[in-house]
Amino acid sequence: MHDRPAGAAAVARRGDADPAAQEAVRFRGVMIAFSLPGGASYPAVAATDLAVGTHEFVAIVGPTGCGKSTLLNAAAGLLAPSSGEVFVLGARLTGINRAAGYLFQQDAVMPWKTARDNVAIGLEVAGVARAQAAAKAQAWLERVGLGAFAERYPHQLSGGQRKRVGLAQVLIRAPKILLMDEPFGPLDAQTRQIMGNLLLELWAFERKAVLFVTHDLEEAIALADRVIIMSAGPAARVIGDHTIDLARPRDASEVRLSPRFHELHKLIWSQLRTEVLKAYNASGSDSAGAAYSAGGA
Ligand SMILES: Nc1ncnc2c1ncn2[C@@H]1O[C@H](COP(=O)(O)OP(=O)(O)OP(=O)(O)O)[C@@H](O)[C@H]1O
Ligand SMILES: [Mg+2]
Repeated sequence: MHDRPAGAAAVARRGDADPAAQEAVRFRGVMIAFSLPGGASYPAVAATDLAVGTHEFVAIVGPTGCGKSTLLNAAAGLLAPSSGEVFVLGARLTGINRAAGYLFQQDAVMPWKTARDNVAIGLEVAGVARAQAAAKAQAWLERVGLGAFAERYPHQLSGGQRKRVGLAQVLIRAPKILLMDEPFGPLDAQTRQIMGNLLLELWAFERKAVLFVTHDLEEAIALADRVIIMSAGPAARVIGDHTIDLARPRDASEVRLSPRFHELHKLIWSQLRTEVLKAYNASGSDSAGAAYSAGGA
């Protein structure tokens, strides 16, 4: 684990004069409705106000189908709000969010490229010479613990290793903001915790703004500074905004054993549970409830 460098602290101090400059992402009255065939409209997300600070790690948790990916897509500039506005680093977002790196649930690695080429591609498309991009990609692979795997193709890597490639792929472009949509979703519980620790370790270097969607409340509490709870849809809204006052640096596994973690989990789960059951009852299947559990806390 690494402390925040002096440079980052200096940047944070310079921003003190202007509160908007301290916000990486702000949703201001963001409402999102989807047009359905036949002319109807589905109100996915009700007017939402939410800000993520420039060095803040914010997790969003909510029942399946409530609009978490929709909100993240709006922050990425992939989806324009039906009403309201998204601001990025103080400026209104009108197209793709160029300050952000986006990590999806599905692997975004290209099967025909080696791990190194998959990581280098982001720099190459930005005009960096091939040899230089490859050298930087190698350095990033080493940072995510895959230095010896640079020549491997994705099918020769485990699911967790592919996620590491995905992280390096996003971080090599030095985004100020990380948007992560259930990035460790398909991994087993132990690998998720290892990936959580890797993410915390990389994050500690610069403390980029992170907006992290997960269905796993324990993961959200273990990683984040704040946990946002969304209600079940339609017209989902933010119903909880919980500060996670667990000390950093944190170990994503060990922190789960602390009494404060248990207190926070109990408090937030009581709120989330109601929403999960609503989604469960609305769906008429066990799919909504199955994704959540009160866990070991
Ligand atoms: N393009 C679309 N057209 C119509 N409805 C959509 C569209 N995209 C999403 N929706 C609906 O909007 C709601 C929110 O979807 P979203 O994908 O944001 O949910 P989510 O919270 O990310 O769910 P999950 O946890 O299952 O990933 C859902 O009811 C979904 O069916
Ligand atoms: Mg989603």
